[in-house]
Amino acid sequence: MSKLWGGRFTKQTNHLVEEYTASIKFDQALALEDVQGSLAHVTMLGTCGILPQEDVEKIKAGLLRVQEKIKSGEVEYSVSDEDIHMNIEKQLIAEVGPVGGKLHTGRSRNDQVATDMHLYLRKRVVEFVGLLHDLQEALINQAKQNQATILPGYTHLQRAQPILFAHHLMAYVSMFQRDIERLQDSYKRINVLPLGAGALAGTTFAIDRHLSAELLHFDAVYDNSLDAVSDRDFIIEFLADASILMMHLSRLSEELVLWSSTEFRFVELDDAFCTGSSIMPQKKNPDVPELVRGKTGRVYGNLMGLLTVLKSLPLAYNKDMQEDKEGMFDTVSTLQGALQLFAPMIATMKVNAEQMRNAVNQDFSNATDIADFLAAKGLPFRQAHEVIGKTVLYCIQNNKYLLDLTMDEFKQFSPLFDDTIYHVLQPETVVNARNVYGGTASGQVAQAIERAEERLTATHAWVQEYLEKSK
Ligand code: ARG
Repeated sequence: MSKLWGGRFTKQTNHLVEEYTASIKFDQALALEDVQGSLAHVTMLGTCGILPQEDVEKIKAGLLRVQEKIKSGEVEYSVSDEDIHMNIEKQLIAEVGPVGGKLHTGRSRNDQVATDMHLYLRKRVVEFVGLLHDLQEALINQAKQNQATILPGYTHLQRAQPILFAHHLMAYVSMFQRDIERLQDSYKRINVLPLGAGALAGTTFAIDRHLSAELLHFDAVYDNSLDAVSDRDFIIEFLADASILMMHLSRLSEELVLWSSTEFRFVELDDAFCTGSSIMPQKKNPDVPELVRGKTGRVYGNLMGLLTVLKSLPLAYNKDMQEDKEGMFDTVSTLQGALQLFAPMIATMKVNAEQMRNAVNQDFSNATDIADFLAAKGLPFRQAHEVIGKTVLYCIQNNKYLLDLTMDEFKQFSPLFDDTIYHVLQPETVVNARNVYGGTASGQVAQAIERAEERLTATHAWVQEYLEKSK
């Protein structure tokens, strides 16, 4: 069969042009969404009396047969049919004959492709919220098991103040919560239907766009036809949300890589999540977090790519916009890969509480507390800071830690010291002294875990509800 748009042409398309302009190699990922959109469109055409019911039934039955073939992998896509929309229409016509050609009444590929992308992305957004929920759950479970595990907290990657390991993990739970909320919020803008905008200006047929929206569970329809076919903001927004999420994952990845090094030995990733070296028999490499860290680059790249494609494009549709797909698909599969692995990797991670504790015992991360101690006794904090700076220097020069100093040694630096300082300097005391909302004190962390668990339940309910809505 010749091209579906071939009437105006007197020559065959150059085969390199066909190859160059075809999107079927990648947009076949939209096959099921394309059928889903067509089923709603043709139903609407029937209800509005634009197509006779008998034609509608034939087309629907044909579309359902094509859907089965797509699912069982029987459909063969062809480059000469350019894209998924043309390929499916050809399949339909092969199934039901010329009546299949009525499906495209009152529709253009421009509103069709935009509809497919909206259908596709809203499902992915719900799946990603579900995967983030699972990751948060794994982190919260590790946090619960490590509510008494103390490790040095760092600034500038220098030991700063001791914190609970649970508190450190819960910081990531907070980040992923914002990622969840960003995705949930984006659903509002994804769940708007472009169908019915036609090529750019609407259609001469008396269609009912709101009925199509209802059939496809869209909350609204685009209220400007030019915007409907030219908008790719919803994809850019997804790519931006994905970039922020990957940035969070790559920070956690970096910590896992550091923590599982011999220098730290704070955690050990399960064998099932590591790989070996072909030459060095002793190696156990944290490839998964390394690759997540590395793949963050392509996710950022896909965002920059699409922003640049859209920049300065005149209204309405331009072929440039076909470039919206590969980056989006790549980001989707990159995120799926990372999130699917992260939850079980965190769940099976062994935490070396003893090694973390040893690190705290051999550092000066309690120095702020001893300065606070003098400040509480009335010494201006600036002076207290200076006094403790000298005390730390003395310790370094004499190969000691603050808790090793005798009372006489303490008194050399300030007469304000008394015996209670030995209690003040204990890591547990130091941690529990930070008893502000959101701080690392164990009571605060326990409450943070409780709050996170409530949000986890709410996210789970949201996913269940939206899995149904986004089908
Ligand atoms: N494959 C095209 C795309 O993804 C579909 C829309 C084609 N529209 C057109 N006027 N050529 O953008």
